[in-house]
Amino acid sequence: KKVVLAYSGGLDTSVIVRWLQDTYNCEVVTFTADIGQGEEVEPAREKAKKLGVNEIYIEDLREEFVRDYVFPMFRANTIYEGEYLLGTSIARPLIAKRLVEIANETGADAISHGATGKGNDQVRFELGAYALKPGVKVIAPWREWDLNSREKLLAYCDERDIPVEKKKGKSPYSMDANLLHISYEGINLEDPWAEAEEDMWRWTVSPESAPEKPTYVELTYKKGDIVAIDGQDMKPHVVLETLNKLAGDNGIGRLDIVENRYVGMKSRGCYETPGGTIMLRAHRAIESITLDREVAHLKDSIMPRYAEVIYNGYWWSPEREALQALIDQTQHYVNGTVRLKLYKGNVDVVGRKSEDSLFDEKIATFEEDQGAYDQKDAEGFIKLNALRLRIAAGKGRKL
Ligand code: ARG
Ligand code: SIN
Repeated sequence: KKVVLAYSGGLDTSVIVRWLQDTYNCEVVTFTADIGQGEEVEPAREKAKKLGVNEIYIEDLREEFVRDYVFPMFRANTIYEGEYLLGTSIARPLIAKRLVEIANETGADAISHGATGKGNDQVRFELGAYALKPGVKVIAPWREWDLNSREKLLAYCDERDIPVEKKKGKSPYSMDANLLHISYEGINLEDPWAEAEEDMWRWTVSPESAPEKPTYVELTYKKGDIVAIDGQDMKPHVVLETLNKLAGDNGIGRLDIVENRYVGMKSRGCYETPGGTIMLRAHRAIESITLDREVAHLKDSIMPRYAEVIYNGYWWSPEREALQALIDQTQHYVNGTVRLKLYKGNVDVVGRKSEDSLFDEKIATFEEDQGAYDQKDAEGFIKLNALRLRIAAGKGRKL
């Protein structure tokens, strides 16, 4: 009867509004969020009105997105398949949550989205929706209709009087953007051997054309989250906006990979994650002086699993919450400051300090250490650790 649609205001989701009205004879509620995609969200209001939508939700979710999703994920130094910083994956749970909340507020029994039947995004939206509203009905037009080409979509618009605005400079790629990243898929990228064209990239300059002089920046951490840049306190989303600019100007954060989608196929994607690339390096650096070794290694061992949970769409799951509790618990002493040098695509850590540092110069020094560490102890330490190796070798085992 009533359906809440994740509405971007673009052509595809505008067609979906009319298609839902026609096909299901239902009332459509639109939800449009600013999560830092860099496009105005207000114009979605007029467009939705023109399509006969009465209940229109337009929200600025930038702060919540970075504070409650991006930052918690970065506490784990999360990367999928060794490379991908999960820029799209981490935004979907928030959209799913708001879709469900709006459904509850407006008395809708269904949600809908514009993700195709071939990708990860459908899985993420829908797993989230089912987890938060078990009886919800999901409508995924791309899996149902036959408007699977540009021409068919435009013909449908023509037939049903859906205004099509011709945007200048519109990129041909399938893109997704938010404060953490922008992604590009499709067109020439479908050949994994074909190098991305320089003018595809929107948020970063190429490392070659980045400034000849390095930029230094200091990040201050509290409990694993950045709270200040160069001594200036900032809200989470302002931190990320600021780092995106600094990194983008220095050619930092480009990535070109082939990844394994949850639905089973390999896909080639290019990503710009400028601020995130800095955050990953810096967080590891502050942890390097504040975390106990075993805790650090334990975190590292569960990280790939945590990344997979997020990539596959299980943010709203008991296993994610359990992993998160472990990760958050480790961050109590992750406080201090990291100094970085940004230069032509590189992020170098050049300094780190903390009131909670476990680094002890008196012990680590190559100079005389005043008895804090007795080198003679090392002999027994090594011998006992070698015991099983000596036994096996003694019994003639070959390596
Ligand atoms: N392959 C990436 C992921 O699964 C990016 C997906 C981009 N989504 C999009 N609708 N363009 O997270
Ligand atoms: C889509 O199918 O909507 C984009 C790709 C993806 O979700 O992985």
